[in-house]
Amino acid sequence: SKRIGILTSGGDCSGLNAAIRSVVHCAGEKGWEVLGIRQATLGLMARPPQVTKLEIDQVDPLLTSGGTMLGTTNKGDPFAFPMADGSLCDRSEEIIAGYHQLGLDALIGIGGDGSLAILRRLAQQGGINLVGIPKTIDNDIGITEHAIGFDTAVNIATEALDRLHFTAASHSRVIILEVMGRDAGHIAIAAGIAGGADVILIPEILYNIDHICHKIKHRQEQGKNYCLIVVSEAVKTQEGAAVTMTNSLGQSRYGGIGQYLADQISDRIGAETRVTVLGHLQRGGTASPLDRLVAAAFGVAAVNLIEQGKYDYMVTWQNRQVFAVPIAEAIAQYRAVNPGDTLVKTARGLGIYLGD
Ligand code: F6P
Repeated sequence: SKRIGILTSGGDCSGLNAAIRSVVHCAGEKGWEVLGIRQATLGLMARPPQVTKLEIDQVDPLLTSGGTMLGTTNKGDPFAFPMADGSLCDRSEEIIAGYHQLGLDALIGIGGDGSLAILRRLAQQGGINLVGIPKTIDNDIGITEHAIGFDTAVNIATEALDRLHFTAASHSRVIILEVMGRDAGHIAIAAGIAGGADVILIPEILYNIDHICHKIKHRQEQGKNYCLIVVSEAVKTQEGAAVTMTNSLGQSRYGGIGQYLADQISDRIGAETRVTVLGHLQRGGTASPLDRLVAAAFGVAAVNLIEQGKYDYMVTWQNRQVFAVPIAEAIAQYRAVNPGDTLVKTARGLGIYLGD
């Protein structure tokens, strides 16, 4: 029998609880114990470590719930952890000691590329038997076709476009939908095609505002007096400047490119513009059936890897099958949108303006 730990790290998304549930079920079938670690590595840093023994009755009702029942954090790199006095401290040994104190045989880390890289470094340093499960609405982790959370985010962004379509048409407006994607435009291109956008802007492809305006005018000439634009939050101004917002703690993140584009377009051609920033709606709520399936398959595969003693691997979805690949390889093969991708060709084939 084994005792395994599970944690969720980095930004939340839909489908995390489905993955936790899958791990608890599969481990339960083998007679193993599963400890849920609170708030990612913070739970291992705390003394005593913050954990809950997970039971099937507890995780079953969570299949359809959003967020993560374990809590998460995307703050505080343990190797340079921000202390109350403003200094940065390496607290990696405390986390490693927490893992060993709990008597864990292995740890399942559910995270994006940043979190998985940190967990891997901890594992290498402290003899942690780590298995990774990829999750991120951005879908930019290498090798795997699906990361938990992406499909739900695309569904939400597509539904937003479906709704905006009618109001844009009724008012003859240019409506811009700003979607998430810290470094990659996967959500924008997928939702843009599925939701019938006229213009899709992603950080991987440069655009020209005059060409966007031309597209809007061309549609007007065809009797279509409105236009739907999807823009990924990481898209820069035409001059190449990042558009960011800063919160009350002085932390900055992308946001505002939609309004920048709206102003540019109305200044140039006098079109009436409106902007919708979808934000964290893309990470909330019930997971789509596909995300739940992927979460279920990944949870089972992760437990099976532990049974085989195969550590330092991440589960992936490739060609309708789940495979394990070294975590280091997945991180090294970070996946942005490539000009040769089928979706890029599809968008161009449909006449969507996607940049130059
Ligand atoms: O990486 C996931 C993501 O949702 C990005 O799409 C977005 O840029 C970022 O996280 C937002 O982070 P936060 O939750 O800190 O606002």
